[in-house]
Amino acid sequence: MEEVAIKIEKLSKSFQVGKNNIPVLFDIDLEINKGDFTMLVGPSGCGKSTLLHIIYGLESPTKGKVYIDGYDIWEKTKDWRAYFRNQKVGFIPQQAFWIKSLTVIENIAIPAVIGGESFKDAAERAAKLIELVGMEKWADYRPYDLSGGQQQKIALARSLLLNPAFIIADEPTGNLDQKAGKNLLLLLRDINKKFGITILMVTHDLNQYKYASRIVNMLDGKIVSNIINKHGIDFIANSDRKK
Ligand SMILES: Nc1ncnc2c1ncn2[C@@H]1O[C@H](COP(=O)(O)OP(=O)(O)OP(=O)(O)O)[C@@H](O)[C@H]1O
Ligand SMILES: [Mg+2]
Repeated sequence: MEEVAIKIEKLSKSFQVGKNNIPVLFDIDLEINKGDFTMLVGPSGCGKSTLLHIIYGLESPTKGKVYIDGYDIWEKTKDWRAYFRNQKVGFIPQQAFWIKSLTVIENIAIPAVIGGESFKDAAERAAKLIELVGMEKWADYRPYDLSGGQQQKIALARSLLLNPAFIIADEPTGNLDQKAGKNLLLLLRDINKKFGITILMVTHDLNQYKYASRIVNMLDGKIVSNIINKHGIDFIANSDRKK
């Protein structure tokens, strides 16, 4: 039996805009297993980011439940969710944000320092992660001096700092060219495999589907399919790498 990592039950979301109530998500049910590499796909405006934000604990649902690791996260307090995020969930936003006055390595280390770790310990672990994403040469740069693809790799390193069980990524390859996008994706795949981290990411790129173990399709605020992608994942990813 596979273990359920994320379970969503009858989730709805509407936004209040002025006097209007705008429904965005409708009665969503979804299950993702531990170790899945899930791609969430669908047209612009269908509600993908909204769903990710609710799962990440930033935006509250109007109705319904979100269970992560068995915890009903919206039953808990805001502080509990903040702690849970810090301990368990790495987030890669579409547009990376950085503290301008800090170097790359310092930016990677900062979540642990905020969590109470000494800067020295945090920087040591950050140094390992920067190697993992192949960016050690850029450790002392300012993040905004790096290319979009390089920044996304650094964002991935930062998301891994606190040993998350989950990574949630909102179009991490959205601003990248084909090659850089593919490299980042292979890196995510390796991390998914090597560390068993459950990954949920949004993409618009059809070429990336082959790397997913699960493809969830959204349309107009509803999930229209949730497909396990048995083919591809190992076969295609490995044969690609040999090229
Ligand atoms: N804070 C908000 N207030 C009001 N409406 C919002 C808010 N956030 C999102 N929406 C609306 O919800 C709908 C879904 O937005 P969302 O950002 O989730 O789409 P998306 O699928 O991520 O699109 P894209 O692929 O372009 O990123 C849109 O119509 C958007 O205008
Ligand atoms: Mg979005």
